[in-house]
Formats: sequence, C-alpha cells, structure tokens
Amino acid sequence: MTDAIDDYLLALHRTRASGGSVRERGHYGALQNLLNNLGATLKPKVHCISELANAGAGSPDFGLFTAPQLVFDTNEGVRAIRPPDRGVVEAKSPDTAIERVEASEQVTQYWERYRLVLVTNFRSFLVVGEDEVGRRKTRERFDLAPDESSFWSLAAAPSRLPADIRLRFREFLHRLLLQNATLTQPRDVALILASLARDCRARLEAAAAEDKARSRQPNLLEPGGRASPLIDRLDDVRETLESALGIRFDTERGMHFFWSTLVQTLFYGIFSGWVIWARQPVPRDKRGTFSPLRVAWMLRLRVIRALFEQVYRPGALEGLGIGDVLDWACDVLHRVDDTAFFSRFREDHAVQYFYEPFLEAYDPDLRRELGVWYTPPEVVDYMVARVDWALRSQLGIERGLADPRVHVLDPCCGTGSFFLAILDRIHKTLLAEGEGDLAGSMVKRAAIERIHGFEIMPAPLVVAHLQVALALEHLYRAPLNVSDGHSNRPDEFPSILLTNALTGLDERSGISPRLPLPELEDDGYFAGRVKREEQIWVVIGNPPYNGFAGVDVTPEEKSLTDPWRQVRAVRPPEGRGLNDPYARFWRMAERRIAERTGFGVVCLITN
Ligand SMILES: C[S@@+](CC[C@H](N)C(=O)[O-])C[C@H]1O[C@@H](n2cnc3c(N)ncnc32)[C@H](O)[C@@H]1O
Repeated sequence: MTDAIDDYLLALHRTRASGGSVRERGHYGALQNLLNNLGATLKPKVHCISELANAGAGSPDFGLFTAPQLVFDTNEGVRAIRPPDRGVVEAKSPDTAIERVEASEQVTQYWERYRLVLVTNFRSFLVVGEDEVGRRKTRERFDLAPDESSFWSLAAAPSRLPADIRLRFREFLHRLLLQNATLTQPRDVALILASLARDCRARLEAAAAEDKARSRQPNLLEPGGRASPLIDRLDDVRETLESALGIRFDTERGMHFFWSTLVQTLFYGIFSGWVIWARQPVPRDKRGTFSPLRVAWMLRLRVIRALFEQVYRPGALEGLGIGDVLDWACDVLHRVDDTAFFSRFREDHAVQYFYEPFLEAYDPDLRRELGVWYTPPEVVDYMVARVDWALRSQLGIERGLADPRVHVLDPCCGTGSFFLAILDRIHKTLLAEGEGDLAGSMVKRAAIERIHGFEIMPAPLVVAHLQVALALEHLYRAPLNVSDGHSNRPDEFPSILLTNALTGLDERSGISPRLPLPELEDDGYFAGRVKREEQIWVVIGNPPYNGFAGVDVTPEEKSLTDPWRQVRAVRPPEGRGLNDPYARFWRMAERRIAERTGFGVVCLITN
C-alpha cells in the first residue's frame, strides 16, 4: 500500500508538471488506481468504476461497487447492474476548497440519491453519509496536507509523507471502502474498530513526539514549567496505572505499551458500552443517543469510568486530537444491524467473536510480544471440572466450587474465561441441587464475593467485566445492581480487579500512596485485601509465558522464586526456567495454598 500512496501522489504531480490537464479530469486516473489498489485487498473486493450508467441525478465521477453489483460484458467491459453499494465519489480540482465542494448542489443531489458520497479535491477527503436517524452527516475527514501549496510539495516528493500520516491515510481509505457494508458480523465490526484504533494510536504517538520535541525548547515552556498539554493530561492516567500495576512505562517500548493499552481500553470501553446500550430491553428510539460521553456511565466499571473521564475531561480531547476518531467509532456502531449482530454474538463468547479479531488486527506484534493468547474453552472447561472433582473427592468438599466457603483466584484472568466457566459450573451444581430460580442470584453472590480475577491489562479487563455482566443478566437472570444515582442501593461489582498479581503480596507492602485516580485506588484496595487477607482454596488459570517487554519486573516480583533457588546442587536443566513469569505465578499460588490456607488446589497451565 505504501507504493499505491506514492504512485497516487507522483501521478498527480506528473500530470500537473506536464501542464496539460490541470483540472480534475486529469487526476481521475490516479484516484481510481488508488481506490482500486486498496479495494483489491478487501474481501469482498471493492471496485472503483467511472461513467456510472443510469446515474439519474447527474453523474458522480465514480461509483464504489463490490463484485456482486457488477457483470462483465464482452462489448462494454465491466458494467454495474445495481447502484454502487459502497457509495459514490465526487472529485474537484486541488485548487477548490473542500468545503465548497461539500456544500455544492451536486453533492447534495448525489447524497440524496446514494446516501454516501466521498468528496475530495485530491488532497482532502470527506465522507458524507447519514447519522443514526438518516440525516446528512459528515462522517470522517482526512487532510493529506494543510493547504494546496504544501500538498504539491508533498506530491513532488512522496517519501516525505510522515509515517503516521501515511498509516492514517491508508486506514482512512480502508474504512471508506468498507462504509455502508451492512455490519452484521462481530468480526467485521472488530476489524473496522481496529482500523480506527490504529489511527487513534498514531495520533497519540505523533502528538506525544511533538510534545517531547517542544518541551526540549525551554523558550516554549509555559509559566508553571509544564510545556506539554498532552503530558499534563495523561500524566495522571499514566502515573496511576504505573502505581496500580507496579510497573513503569519509561522505555520506548514501555511507552508503546502504554499508548496501545490506553487506546485499546478506550475502544473496548466504547464497544462494551455500546453492547450494554444496544441490549437494553427498550426500542432503539427510546434508548437515547449513544455517544462516547455516555460510555463512561454505561460501563459499570469504576476503573474504566475513571479512564474515560480523564480523556473526556473538558478541554482534554482537543489536546489529544482523538475526539473525532472516538466519534467515528460510535458512527460505526450505529451502522450495526443489532438484531443480526446479537444473533451471532453469544454473551459468554465475546472473546472469540470480538476481542481476538480486534487485537489481531489492531496490534499483532504486541499481541505476540505480550503473549496474549486466550485459553481454548475446552481446556478451561476441563480444568474447572477437574478442580471441582478434586474438591469433592480429594478434599471432602461435597458441593465442590458451589460451596460458599470456597474462595477461588484466577491471578491472570484476561478476558475472564475461567471466571465464566466457574460461574457456569456453580450454576449447574445449584440447579442439580434443586435451587431453581434462586441459583442465578447465588451465582451473582459468588461472582461478587468469592471468585476473584486479577488482570494487569485494562483492555481484557473491560472485556471480562462485560462478559460477566452480560452472563449474569442474560444467562443467570441476576443482573448487577448499578445505582442510577437516585436509589440508595450500592453498585455491585464482580471481583475482577486491575492489579499486578505478583506484587503487594506481603503484609509489609503497607498502604500505597494516594493516587491521582481514586477509582483505581479502590481496585488496588480490594485487590490488596484478596492478596493479603482472603483464605484462597483454589488458584486456577493460564499465566503468561512471556514477560511484559518494556515493563520492569519489580524486586518484590523477582524475589518470589528465591526459595526455589536455595537448592545447592542442581543439574541442568532442572535449575533453568525460573525466570519465566509462569514460575512466579506458581510460587505465588504455592504461598497462598501451601503456606497460608494450608490446603487447596492449584491448577495452572505451564509451558
Ligand atoms: C495467557 S493469558 C490468559 C488469559 C485468560 N486465562 C483467558 O483465557 O482469557 C495471560 C493473561 O495474564 C495477564 N497478566 C500478565 N502478567 C500479569 C500480572 N503480573 N498480573 C496480572 N495479570 C497478568 C495478561 O495480560 C494476559 O491477559
């Protein structure tokens, strides 16, 4: 695709330099090639066709079609048999302001007929579509350069196009060609949102780099010594995450991890808020408009609400430059056909349907680097059944996991697959015991009081909370109580907490300093109680086999495996492997069960 963008810019430059065709027609070929090159990489392929037949309302410059709309005719070549399903294109010459083209009578006519128009002057691009109730709305905009003369300098030397702009342009065109695709498949929604998320991360990273460069110039320092609005705004979030998780984001890779985590969290947050919004048992027109601002309160998660409120604090978004991208993400969700979508989206399987395709498309390298792999459901179900059996037959606990004395910890719960399987097992036992309608609320109590999950990454944590909230509501008919601000009943939260499972295990860890985001402090407080006070009978899960690149392991965490290093004569290979993170999780589990509770079950996957 790098080449397609370069080819596009160079072709425009050459046409202009030739002095021949300077009006828009001379540039049509370059635009058509660009859209066709990119369209060829999609499934189904998208074709950019000129000379629309039967165009009626005047003729737009191009139509964007998927293959089923086209036939091949030996006389006429490729011919459209239906209207363009991915919209039409109206292009005017680069010396025309994009706003003028957008406001033109022609574009209004095309919009009335096709409902989706890409408006361009070859250097700026606008997508004119519809809002959720069918009114005209400019959905997305992209500018290759701030003005015409800088655009022509760029076209003469496309290699000067900064990497982040190139990436964002590619993502923009990609989404453009997917506009109007009926969104019914969770996977397609995940792929479009991942494209917006990459755009968002590119903006944040570019803004941060600019910030850094500016703060190196002391003359630009504002009174008070803080040069950077961006750093100012996100310092609280960063500092709080660093303290809550006991890790530092100070290397370059650590910062990439921070941005990536922040963006993922925002996108999973929007997606989860939308699922909750769309699942409300009231007709769509009575639900009110869904917007990122509403996400903060729709999410029943203090931690995520806190992150959202930081990003959405008045004034924060302008500095970050990501407000419009988050709005576009909401536009994408408005286009989802919820009936078809939810017929394919099972509440307890959001991971396979959404989280994994999103992460794979958003940041495959990060996924590999961090070892973010999710445990196959068959393995999870087997391990949970095995633990239940061991409790009953080897420890004499007749009701197994359903016994209210059994406290369970998944120290690396990811998107909550073990947590959900444990709830399912408890529910089955309760039904078999004849609890009937009461079983659901007993499962809910277990989720709040005695099944605990720890997770270090906010993004899977959001998904875990979403899955558990949906399962309680729809599978067990025992929704969590979320106060509406009027009732006195407190909010209920499943015990899935944002924390580093391997730090703060010691009584001496003491009280942590006050953090800028008190909601995160709450999670730290509850996690501290589980780590230091709770009698855990079962430790179960799938710890990571890779360390967090760019994130330092604290001395406390490092020293966890010290007792296993005391053996004097260790023949290779027995002494090896203690630095792998899973070994630290084992040691933590051993401390909990063997040295603290005195009995219980450890069931962890190792490499
Ligand atoms: C291999 S995944 C398994 C996730 C989960 N069992 C599932 O199937 O969804 C390991 C998870 O551990 C998390 N993790 C890694 N180090 C951690 C730590 N020190 N404390 C808590 N969670 C951690 C990772 O973010 C990742 O989500």
